[in-house]
Amino acid sequence: MAFFERMREDIRSVMDRDPAARSRLEVFLCYPGLWALWIHRISHQLWRSNLRLSARVLSQIGRLFTGVDIHPGALLGRRLFIDHATGVVIGETAIVGSDVTMYQGVTLGGTGKQHGKRHPTICDRVFIGNNANILGNITVGENSRVGAGSVVLDDVPPNSTVVGVPAHIVYRAGQRILVTDPHDIKDPLSDALIALSARVEELEERLGTEPCEPVPFATEEADRTAYRKELDFLRDYVSMGEGI
Ligand SMILES: CC(C)(COP(=O)(O)OP(=O)(O)OC[C@H]1O[C@@H](n2cnc3c(N)ncnc32)[C@H](O)[C@@H]1OP(=O)(O)O)[C@@H](O)C(=O)NCCC(=O)NCCS
Repeated sequence: MAFFERMREDIRSVMDRDPAARSRLEVFLCYPGLWALWIHRISHQLWRSNLRLSARVLSQIGRLFTGVDIHPGALLGRRLFIDHATGVVIGETAIVGSDVTMYQGVTLGGTGKQHGKRHPTICDRVFIGNNANILGNITVGENSRVGAGSVVLDDVPPNSTVVGVPAHIVYRAGQRILVTDPHDIKDPLSDALIALSARVEELEERLGTEPCEPVPFATEEADRTAYRKELDFLRDYVSMGEGI
């Protein structure tokens, strides 16, 4: 009985979150993300009853029909909405809170370097854009958003938005975070910038010149603002039906 009540709750939550959903019957018949969730509930029970092989076989049958690969050991909260479904992978020790939304291609995976708890913990009300990869035993805090295509390798604080490869914070508690320190982004280009800036400082020291006061990214920010204004103008122009 609880199983069917939970199914009704899942359908209601899809109706609330997806403007494309027109009726409960449509949601029941056309949302493979929900079928994957329901199959997982059964395979998870089998897993907990120590019927490990049956659990894995059932989850693979589910994958065949839905394109979603959820390990039966994963712990999923209530009202998980996997939109478009195809290609989602959720690993054995992943924990997903309630009211989480994720799109196609999301991976909650391991890094291949850890044992035991090696998959992420996703807290309540997190939104994960399509093809995002969240890897390792890390935590994505409540209400946070992960941009499409991001690769998240570190904890994400609550109420934040992260984007990029590797992911970095662009919003925190509603405030825009502009990355001005290359140490905040761990990629080879940032390493090159850090090395370059150390070299400039060293040269300034050798020349005995006063280091100039850095104005971080002022020009870039001005360029971006101008570009956004231009885009807004183009949007109006297109909406008048005149094309560009
Ligand atoms: C992450 C996301 C939620 C942020 O949306 P937002 O709060 O409106 O953020 P903004 O558009 O103001 O973007 C903030 C900055 O992050 C960048 N950014 C946004 N999404 C990004 C992404 N997925 N990857 C890389 N950078 C991204 C923007 O370019 C902007 O950078 P800039 O100001 O330096 O130019 C959104 O961009 C996203 O990725 N949504 C996923 C949608 C999705 O998966 N849809 C699937 C439909 S099938």
